[in-house]
Amino acid sequence: MNKVLMTLLLTLGITGLAHAAGDAAAGEGKVAVCGACHGPDGNSLAPNFPKLAGQGERYLLKQLQDIKAGNRQVVEMTGLLNNLSEQDLADIAAYYASQKMSVGAADPKLVARGEALFRGGKLDEGMPACTGCHAPNGAGIDAAGFPQLGGQHAAYVAKQLTAFREGDRTNDGDSRIMRSIAAKLSNKDIEAVSSFVQGLH
Ligand code: HEC
Ligand code: HEC
Repeated sequence: MNKVLMTLLLTLGITGLAHAAGDAAAGEGKVAVCGACHGPDGNSLAPNFPKLAGQGERYLLKQLQDIKAGNRQVVEMTGLLNNLSEQDLADIAAYYASQKMSVGAADPKLVARGEALFRGGKLDEGMPACTGCHAPNGAGIDAAGFPQLGGQHAAYVAKQLTAFREGDRTNDGDSRIMRSIAAKLSNKDIEAVSSFVQGLH
């Protein structure tokens, strides 16, 4: 196993987030305001708004906590989470996780390069494959907080990889796992791997 990955798993095992159990049915009644951007069931139509449907519950809850605390900047959501309790966030995460993410399509011209990066990484540069954490079908590993990428909007994925690379998104923890991976990706790599995952399922 890759050394970075092992360190990360170890850290997660020791510090695993304590959280309230979410209630999906209660969550459904708390997302009306979110639907304008993320779609009523969490399958957003606009490519810059991430799909939340089917995303891992643990990952969703962590992002909501990070956004609320300001550890991840989302200007479009300024103030929106301020009045939500920890239980509200857990319910909302459970609701979206219980939905199903829709699948998009990859650009056929980018598939070969995108798939090679996703499944093979850049071993000569010490960059692991994405599959180890995000799974071969892109479903992620929710127990470890690794998000689903399969079906996610390419434009959103590309924006996140660029933000990790440029240090504009820093909520990947002390392991800096996504910042160190994105540091090895060129703009063309990011375009290709993002297009590939949009069609992955
Ligand atoms: C005005 C549009 C807008 C509204 C309303 C909105 N969001 Fe968002 N949300 C965004 C955008 C844009 C991003 C991604 C920002 C970025 O590129 O990093 C985001 C990101 C997220 C993420 C992180 C997703 C991921 O894959 O990491 C979660 C979770 C989320 N929103 C939940 C919510 C919830 C819950 C609500 C309602 C309480 C909500 N949002 C309301 C625009 C919105
Ligand atoms: C060692 C594990 C690991 C590997 C390998 C890995 N990732 Fe990640 N990735 C993560 C974790 C953990 C997060 C969530 C960070 C957080 O909590 O905000 C993440 C988040 C992401 C996100 C943000 C998702 C969202 O909804 O905002 C994208 C995009 C992403 N990874 C793409 C990739 C790609 C592409 C590769 C391969 C080039 C890759 N990752 C390899 C662990 C990994």
